[in-house]
Amino acid sequence: MSATVLVTGGLGYIGAHTCVALAEAGRDVVVVDNLANSSSAVLDRIAGLTGRAPAFVHGDIRDVGLLAATMREHEVGSVIHFAGSKAVGESVGRPLSYYDNNVGGSMALLAAMAATGVRTLIFSSSATVYAQSGRMPLAESAALGASSPYGRSKLFVEHMLADLCGSDPAWAVACLRYFNPVGAHPSARIGESPRGVPNNLMPYIAQVAVGQRERLSVFGADYDTLDGTGVRDYVHVLDVAEGHVKALDYLQRAGGHAAINLGTGRGVSVLEMLREYERASGRTIAFQVAPRRAGDVAQCWAEVALARSLLGWQARRSLAQMCEDSWRWQRDNPQGYR
Ligand SMILES: NC(=O)c1ccc[n+]([C@@H]2O[C@H](COP(=O)([O-])OP(=O)(O)OC[C@H]3O[C@@H](n4cnc5c(N)ncnc54)[C@H](O)[C@@H]3O)[C@@H](O)[C@H]2O)c1
Repeated sequence: MSATVLVTGGLGYIGAHTCVALAEAGRDVVVVDNLANSSSAVLDRIAGLTGRAPAFVHGDIRDVGLLAATMREHEVGSVIHFAGSKAVGESVGRPLSYYDNNVGGSMALLAAMAATGVRTLIFSSSATVYAQSGRMPLAESAALGASSPYGRSKLFVEHMLADLCGSDPAWAVACLRYFNPVGAHPSARIGESPRGVPNNLMPYIAQVAVGQRERLSVFGADYDTLDGTGVRDYVHVLDVAEGHVKALDYLQRAGGHAAINLGTGRGVSVLEMLREYERASGRTIAFQVAPRRAGDVAQCWAEVALARSLLGWQARRSLAQMCEDSWRWQRDNPQGYR
């Protein structure tokens, strides 16, 4: 129980919230992050929230020697693996860089774990590993089949982990398939700080609300959904963070191998989200309808029974809380951590 948790990518959006949740659960943490998409300012913010900054190693997960040395020095007993590249669109233009960082990085991490005898791992997977069947909700048993290099990089790692667990029962691995993590810590001290144009809906809406962008483009208003706009399963990032703490408890109790959805089980349309954000922020959010984007599905939400039964986890926070916490973060940190 007392062994340290190595959190790769722990200064990123979901990683930082998970570091807070781990500290609140009494876990010791060491973070390895190369700051490719984050800021070291996050360390002080976490310390402000929990009373103590996690140990931090500035380095790259593709460096097996560095990872193994970190694991030995900090007496690591388990790993939560967030580090990776995450922009679906970018991955189409730079597939090798995505396979290098996401697949190569995971292989280096597994080599370091094997060398140091650490066998417990939580992997950040994604709803993008599911094939586009149109049938909702998506249960973990649904057909797999990613449609971008990013999604395939996640799927390859999932397959690799299943093979590893099949080869040796000492491994205990959970692939957590996140749907759409949004929101921020209610303190407004940590949140999502995208570089450049946000890829996801909520950070984009937040930047329109705070006056950094003129209007939101709603890609497609003629889908077969309640109001014609795309429907997704948004889940509060703190619920996702707490899911990792529960998953760690579960793996240390039960071992084995599992892929588990983390979502609310409820679909929310773009317009529904926009109206809720207007309410939370008290601002009007200008938008225009634009053509559908290639590759987008009409709707996507999770079946969440497995997380409930295996982990005893379910998302607790409402859409209103997601919007209120995102807005507070955006309003108080208009430039993110910069
Ligand atoms: N945010 C989402 O909507 C979402 C959805 C599904 C899955 N995921 C996955 O969850 C994980 C975390 O997502 P996030 O939103 O927190 O992303 P993020 O970019 O905010 O965090 C990733 C962190 O990893 C670090 N990093 C990247 N490559 C590294 C490397 N080679 N060595 C060391 N550190 C490295 C970055 O600097 C960053 O701090 C990612 O693997 C992502 O693919 C995210």
